[in-house]
Amino acid sequence: MAKQRSVFVCRDCGAQVPRWQGQCPGCDAWNTLEQSATAASAPARRGGYAGEAPRLLGEIGQDDQEDRILIGVHELDRVLGGGLVAGSVVLLGGDPGIGKSTLLLQAAARLAEQVQALYVTGEESLRQVALRARRLGLDGRSLKVLSETCLETLLERADSLRPGVMIVDSIQTVYSEAIDSAPGAVGQLRECTARLVRFAKQTGVSVFLVGHVTKEGVIAGPRVLEHMVDTVLYFESDPGSRLRIVRAVKNRFGAANEIGVFAMTEDGLREVRNPSAIFLSGHTGPVSGSVVMVAREGSRPLLLEVQALVDSSFGGSPKRVAVGLDQGRLALLLAVLHRHAGIAMQDQDVFVSVVGGVRVVETASDLPVLVAALASLRDRAVPRDVAAFGEVGLAGEIRPVPFGEERLREAAKQGFRRVFVPTANAPRQAIKGLEVVPVARLQDAIEAMFEAGT
Ligand code: TYD
Ligand code: MG
Repeated sequence: MAKQRSVFVCRDCGAQVPRWQGQCPGCDAWNTLEQSATAASAPARRGGYAGEAPRLLGEIGQDDQEDRILIGVHELDRVLGGGLVAGSVVLLGGDPGIGKSTLLLQAAARLAEQVQALYVTGEESLRQVALRARRLGLDGRSLKVLSETCLETLLERADSLRPGVMIVDSIQTVYSEAIDSAPGAVGQLRECTARLVRFAKQTGVSVFLVGHVTKEGVIAGPRVLEHMVDTVLYFESDPGSRLRIVRAVKNRFGAANEIGVFAMTEDGLREVRNPSAIFLSGHTGPVSGSVVMVAREGSRPLLLEVQALVDSSFGGSPKRVAVGLDQGRLALLLAVLHRHAGIAMQDQDVFVSVVGGVRVVETASDLPVLVAALASLRDRAVPRDVAAFGEVGLAGEIRPVPFGEERLREAAKQGFRRVFVPTANAPRQAIKGLEVVPVARLQDAIEAMFEAGT
């Protein structure tokens, strides 16, 4: 047998190094590296599917297309890329208490109406699960539940039951007898996940794994597992907000960055089917430092409000804080603003945030972010029926973003009257009720928007 090699894995970000060191090279955290066996390469060789002969790609026909089950929770089906693929492994990560168990219990009850579903809980007692199901008003008659944390027993049970779908809540409570370390340690997490993945691929059972995002401590976070599973979903939310966003950060069977929107209510997570305007803060009059951007999250447009607060900085280096946006990008944009529009904020603290806890990962937010910052600096308001989108280049040019026309239509549908867009995104045909203002350079954009303003 091959000699067992070991690596050191960061329990926060999942980075791997061959030797122990105090600081993780991936995320710069201290004392987060833990010893672990190399990623399940050895067991894969033992597994049954290693023996398959290579086939010609052209000979693999339609019948090899993935089988999907529609869960019936529409927003979840959407994030998964159109339902759950048989034999796939989905990791659902998020902060404790954000709604992972609630969502998966709701999904499990729906799934149990179509296929055999097994909900394995290591966190709550069966009574607690039953109580929750009752509170959620779920029909749990055909849903099987199991309270188990030992991986070997769990796999044995799952193998004899062969459900269509198995939910493991949470992966951090599961331990394998083959590994010495405590449940939740990096080694346990990786071994248990690798074996569950193998089980899913061999049997065609779809598996959901719940993973808590941990800020510190001895429990490793779900990032350690991202590369092992087919699909990675994360819950996002604003503290205090009822809105919950489930985002696919990786998906072998669908678009990454697709989002599903839910609201946490008394009776569980309710789907928000048409979320395009739900993240606007709902001011009725204009406020300074706030701009609506037309974003695109996954495959649909979304109107989001960017707020900025620019205030004199006292001592030290000025602060740059971005919530829901990339902090480095903010610094870059402020440099472009200085260099190409002559507006300096070196003596100002700049805070920007996206309302509603959405994380924006596209550059279409550049123009609205800069305009919001400038509006706050000058204490000017952009009218409520004005929106914007566009990437800002390092040379101060406004660059086009994908799906310009679709964004414009959505803005018009939501009652916006004027949209500032990159010149190359201007539509060929007029959009009813919408004035499109094409801008080529940052300077023009600023002039045009503030003329249109107060
Ligand atoms: P939960 O799904 O247990 O979170 P996780 O599994 O991610 O740790 O969600 C728990 C939170 O959701 C808890 O703060 C209470 C709230 N909640 C509701 O508001 N309504 C409900 O119907 C349920 C079941 C939970
Ligand atoms: Mg839970």
